[in-house]
Amino acid sequence: MKELRILLIVLFFTLLVYWGVEPFAHSKMHKHVEDENFAYKDLPTLTQKGDVARGKALVMGAGACVGCHSIKAAGMPAPMDPNTAAASYGVNPPDLSNVGALFDERFLAELIKNPTKALILEHKFDGKTRFFPMPAFAGAGGDKDQEVADMVAYLKSIASKEITPKEAYTTSCGRCHANRYGKWTQIGFVPKTKSNIVTNQDVDLLKFKTKVGEYQAHLAKYMGKLPPDLSIMIRARSEDFMKTFIEDPQSQLKGTAMPRVGLTKEGYEKVTAYLEETGDPSKPARESLGIKVIGFFVIFTLLALLWKRSLWRDLH
Ligand code: HEC
Ligand code: HEC
Repeated sequence: MKELRILLIVLFFTLLVYWGVEPFAHSKMHKHVEDENFAYKDLPTLTQKGDVARGKALVMGAGACVGCHSIKAAGMPAPMDPNTAAASYGVNPPDLSNVGALFDERFLAELIKNPTKALILEHKFDGKTRFFPMPAFAGAGGDKDQEVADMVAYLKSIASKEITPKEAYTTSCGRCHANRYGKWTQIGFVPKTKSNIVTNQDVDLLKFKTKVGEYQAHLAKYMGKLPPDLSIMIRARSEDFMKTFIEDPQSQLKGTAMPRVGLTKEGYEKVTAYLEETGDPSKPARESLGIKVIGFFVIFTLLALLWKRSLWRDLH
């Protein structure tokens, strides 16, 4: 009887910790946020149909996009190198070649009209004392919503149909987040060096590293801190956290300087694929080894069967 009572007490406290305390502590540390599957329902849908040719003229002209951004797909080079850009804006504006595919169209339209609202950064840039470096498009004289729809249509028309995970990452996260295992820095990939004696390549590498340091100093000042290296972030954070955080950073880290990036679901999957690639670089090797091991067992079983048969044949 006494034993039973002790058992019940122990059971009670174990279950209390299991269902009561642990989930409570967990929810305090990482609150659960419902994801919205990258729908961006807080932003208005595009009602006008965009015209690609007019959009091109606006992006290259009145929209002034190419005054700050490169568009390699349209043969437009960067107006300045990453460090000069970071010295003026705090960060290097991304290349616009693939934004039409990586980012949601409602997000893009809002970004052009009202960047801090699209990026959920109104708490940081009030437009009175602190200004966001990308200006809101004031319109080119016609129907502004139509002009915005035209620009979005143009950006969609030039985007590549096959964006690699690496390209998705460099366009949407790369200006802020380095990725050491992917050899990515905020200003580009680390140049390769071959020899083990000091050559011009090493001098170039040192120059490159100095530039990265300078860029990071501008970026840290702009963001309030240096955004973390993302090479193994995917292992440190749950899938649920990554998804909801990228969808809306404010939902998990109130007041953070990281903007909403505006990725489409496919864009998010590509970025995740890159983070998995760098966070677990031996995964492909492990998986291909798995197939070899299974192959070995199949062959081994066949041989064993043949051997058994030949043995029995002799006995009969
Ligand atoms: C005065 C310079 C300037 C002009 C003009 C400008 N941008 Fe930007 N843009 C920036 C900067 C700087 C950033 C990066 C800001 C940041 O990350 O905090 C940016 C970011 C972006 C992004 C990335 C947003 C994201 O979610 O990652 C897109 C897309 C973009 N701009 C499109 C455009 C388009 C389209 C135009 C023309 C209508 C334009 N920009 C005009 C400076 C500019
Ligand atoms: C304009 C700069 C900027 C861009 C673009 C950006 N981030 Fe960030 N990110 C930050 C900053 C700043 C922090 C630090 C946030 C803080 O501690 O408040 C951060 C933090 C993070 C964190 C860590 C959150 C934590 O738990 O501490 C993750 C994960 C992350 N970013 C993922 C991404 C991904 C993925 C992308 C691209 C899809 C991206 N970020 C694009 C600036 C950026």
